[in-house]
Amino acid sequence: MKPNIGISDKNRKVVTDLLADLLANEVALYVATRGAHWNVVGPNFGALHKFFEDQYEALDDILDDVAERMRALGATAPATVSAYARAKSIDDGAGSAKGANAMVASLLQAHETIIKQLRKAEDVADEAGDSGTEDFLTGLMEQHEKMAWMLRAHLQ
Ligand SMILES: [Fe+2]
Repeated sequence: MKPNIGISDKNRKVVTDLLADLLANEVALYVATRGAHWNVVGPNFGALHKFFEDQYEALDDILDDVAERMRALGATAPATVSAYARAKSIDDGAGSAKGANAMVASLLQAHETIIKQLRKAEDVADEAGDSGTEDFLTGLMEQHEKMAWMLRAHLQ
């Protein structure tokens, strides 16, 4: 049964397509952050291993919320690795980067890409009359901005 929530079918499709692209990047960043958690080495191993764990746990919640927002808007959430691989636009290689700082820098760049993606997506959701998604995306952007700050602080 399709949602009767005051947003046209066309606009729901516009917004859920954006959310599908976002979901691919959130999953890719989750995997990249888990990779950093697994493979990091060096004198700060303990702190970084835990820090990356805190971040991938936050990303796990975020990607679940994005998929479930798609469901609330009547779309099916992409749920295959191949779909995520096609749609992702971040570099997800942090787990194989050479050294802890390179891992942190790679994750930071991915967060910053997603923050810019969210800023654009908010405008589209606003134009589509979907204030719920616009508000949701603003909250996600703030979470990514905080995670990006914590990564950036390691590099200063
Ligand atoms: Fe672990």
